[in-house]
Amino acid sequence: MSPQNKATKSVAKLLLLAKRYSKTNQLYVSNSVKQSFCVGFLNLAVDMRKLLIIGHIPSSNTLRLREAVLCGAKKIQSEIVDLDCKTPFEANALDTLSADAIILGTTENLGYMSGALKDFFDRTYNETIEKKEGLPCAIYIRAGMDGTGTRRAIESIISGQKWRLVQAPLIFRGEWNEDFVRQAEELGEAICAGLDAGIF
Ligand SMILES: Cc1cc2nc3c(=O)[nH]c(=O)nc-3n(C[C@H](O)[C@H](O)[C@H](O)COP(=O)(O)O)c2cc1C
Repeated sequence: MSPQNKATKSVAKLLLLAKRYSKTNQLYVSNSVKQSFCVGFLNLAVDMRKLLIIGHIPSSNTLRLREAVLCGAKKIQSEIVDLDCKTPFEANALDTLSADAIILGTTENLGYMSGALKDFFDRTYNETIEKKEGLPCAIYIRAGMDGTGTRRAIESIISGQKWRLVQAPLIFRGEWNEDFVRQAEELGEAICAGLDAGIF
């Protein structure tokens, strides 16, 4: 069950208990008590955080990398962090606006980020600019031999958005190496743990 659903269920239970209690004890539930419930509900809602993972997955290796990031984040078993995992083609501006941290994954193609991730930025940039300043962000790049052009390009967009890189970009360069999976998992775990602990 998602954290939001859990919160809604908890508040519904509290309201039911209050209703039963007020009936059996002939109590009048004042407006201030009702207001406290609303404030409590808002606090619960505010405490929920969303980690958005956007990973381009054109190959089995890149799918494994994105799965590893998600798997690492799930290791935290957070009660308050909701995980959302998409491809750049599936993601939209609302996903970014509702995120509290974001992990971006792409291949390097022709010395730049994948067309898929660029398309995501092209579609969402104007709607999100100046609305998510300070958004904690991390990047992983799968590159056949380089990766620096992609890193520079994403960093430039992130800096335009005023998002905050919370970890140095990971570049999985060269021949496939099983250690990439471990590093991707650690990335997901670290960002989720930071969000869960309120460090970011
Ligand atoms: C059209 C195309 C362009 C590419 N350009 C680059 C590049 O400029 N630099 C680089 O390091 N790798 C480049 N690559 C390699 C990809 O980054 C690599 O194939 C991708 O990360 C998938 O790796 P995988 O086989 O381990 O899944 C290119 C691949 C394709 C298909």
